[in-house]
Amino acid sequence: MSDHEFDVLVIGAGPGGYVAAIRAAQLGLRVACVERTPTLGGTCLNVGCIPSKVLLHTSEEYAHARAKLARHGVVVSGVELDLEAMMAHKDKVVGDLTKGVVGLLEKNDVTHIEGHARLTGPGTVEIEGPESRTVSAGAIVIATGSVSAPLAGVEVDEERIVTSTGALALAQVPARMAVIGAGYIGLEMGSVWSRLGAKVTVIEFLDRVLPGMDGEVATQMHRLLRRQKIAFKLGTRVTGAERTNEGVRLAMEPVAGGEATSLDVDVVLVAVGRRPNTEGLGLDEVGIPLDGHGRIEVNERFETTVPGVYAIGDVIAGPMLAHKAEEEGIAVAEIVAGGSGHVNRDAIPGVVYTAPEAAAVGQTEEALEEADIDYTVGRFPFAANGRARSMSATDGFVKVLADAETDRVLGVHIVGHDAGTLIAEAVTVMEFGGSAEDIARTCHAHPSLNEAVKEAALAVAGRAIHV
Ligand code: NAI
Repeated sequence: MSDHEFDVLVIGAGPGGYVAAIRAAQLGLRVACVERTPTLGGTCLNVGCIPSKVLLHTSEEYAHARAKLARHGVVVSGVELDLEAMMAHKDKVVGDLTKGVVGLLEKNDVTHIEGHARLTGPGTVEIEGPESRTVSAGAIVIATGSVSAPLAGVEVDEERIVTSTGALALAQVPARMAVIGAGYIGLEMGSVWSRLGAKVTVIEFLDRVLPGMDGEVATQMHRLLRRQKIAFKLGTRVTGAERTNEGVRLAMEPVAGGEATSLDVDVVLVAVGRRPNTEGLGLDEVGIPLDGHGRIEVNERFETTVPGVYAIGDVIAGPMLAHKAEEEGIAVAEIVAGGSGHVNRDAIPGVVYTAPEAAAVGQTEEALEEADIDYTVGRFPFAANGRARSMSATDGFVKVLADAETDRVLGVHIVGHDAGTLIAEAVTVMEFGGSAEDIARTCHAHPSLNEAVKEAALAVAGRAIHV
C-alpha cells in the first residue's frame, strides 16, 4: 500500500465512516476521511439520532411536568414551553458532539478532507470542495449513508412539507400535523410534536405500525400512542398533497379500496423510509453495481466488485442503524489491516425512542413461525415489576423467545420505560449464544426494571415468580 498517499480513504464521516477511520488509524494505517458537509458526524449526529433524542427527552420532561409529576405529589405551576430555547439546547448538543468528532479524528491522526468524493478508478478518488484534489489510497471505504425516500405527489419544501430534517427544526408548534409513515421516524417525531401540543395524525400504508418489529410490540405501541392522543389512519395511502392558504391538504384513499378522503394540516412529515446515498460517487464509471434496492452489493468482507473498494452502513444491505454502521466500520478497518473483522447480524438491537420505548433484538415471533422454528415464549409485564410501579412506568412487557429444544435465546422484545437500555442485556446474551436459563439464573439487582427481563426468561420455563 506504500505507493499510495493513504492506506485507507473513507468517504463519509457519519458513525460508520468516522469509526472506520479511527479504527484503521489505531491499527497503524495512514487514513483520510472525506466529508462533503462542513460538520462531521453524518445524519446521525447532525439531523438524526442525536437532535431527535434531545427533543424526545425534553418534550417528555415537559409532558411529565404538565401531567405526571402532580400524580407523584410534585406540584409545579406555570409550566411553559420555550421552543426557541429547546431548539438552542438541541443545537448546542449537536455542535458539541460534532466538534468532538473533529477532535477524535485529530487525536488519531486521521486527515480530514472537506469535499465531495467521486471514484475515478481503482485506488483513486477525485475530491471537489474547498481544496479540490485527487487522492490515491490502497483501500477506499464508501460510508455515504442514506437520504430520505421521496413520496410521489408529496413534494418536500422543508417548511410545510418536511423530512425528519425539517421536523427537527420547526419554528413553532403546528396546530395540526400529519405524519406519513408509522416507522421509527414517524412515531418518534410524531411523539415530540404531539407532546408539545400538535394534533398529530399518523397515516400508514400497512395495517400496522412499526413493520419489521414483533407484531405484539406493534399492537401494544399502537394502543399506547393512541392513548397519548396520537391519531392513526392505518391501511391508508396518501395520493397527493396540495398547498393551501392555511397549510397543506393531503389526499388519501384506503389501500383496500374505498372512498378517497382529505386531511387539512399545518405541517406534513414524510417518513416513508430512507434510501442509500450513492449519487455522484462514480460507481457506474468504476463498475460497482447496485442491487434492486439501490444498495451497493458487498461480500461478507464488505468488498464491492472492484478490488480495494469496500462499503459499509446504510449504503449496503441490513437495517439502517447508526450502531450497525459503527460495527461494520470497525470490522472493515480490521479486514483492511489484515485482520478478521466480523459483524454478527443476528444480534443487532433496534430501539424506537418513544415513551415507552420499544426495543428488540433477534427474531420476531412472525419470523420464527415463517421459518418453522419450534420456540417457547416467556412474557412478563412491567405492571408486576416493583421499580416500574414506583416510577408509574407500568406500561409494556418483556418477551423472550427461546429455541424449544436448546433453550438458546432467539429474540427478545421489550415495550417499556428505558427499553433501549434494557435490551443490552439480551444482546450480550445472544452474542454469547446464551440460553433463557442463563438469563434466569443470573442475579439481577432489586428493585430494577431489568428484573422484568429475568422474569420473562424464567417464564420461558413456566417458572416466573412475580406473576
Ligand atoms: P421506516 O422504514 O422505519 O418506516 C417507514 C414507514 O412508512 C413504514 O411503516 C412504511 O410501511 C410506511 N410507508 C411507506 N410508504 C408509505 C406511503 N406511501 N404511505 C404511507 N406509509 C408509507 O422508515 P423511517 O421511519 O422513515 O426511518 C428511516 C430509517 O431511519 C429506518 O431504517 C430507521 O431504521 C432509521 N431510524 C432509526 C431510528 C432509531 O434507531 N431510533 C430513529 C429514526 C430513524
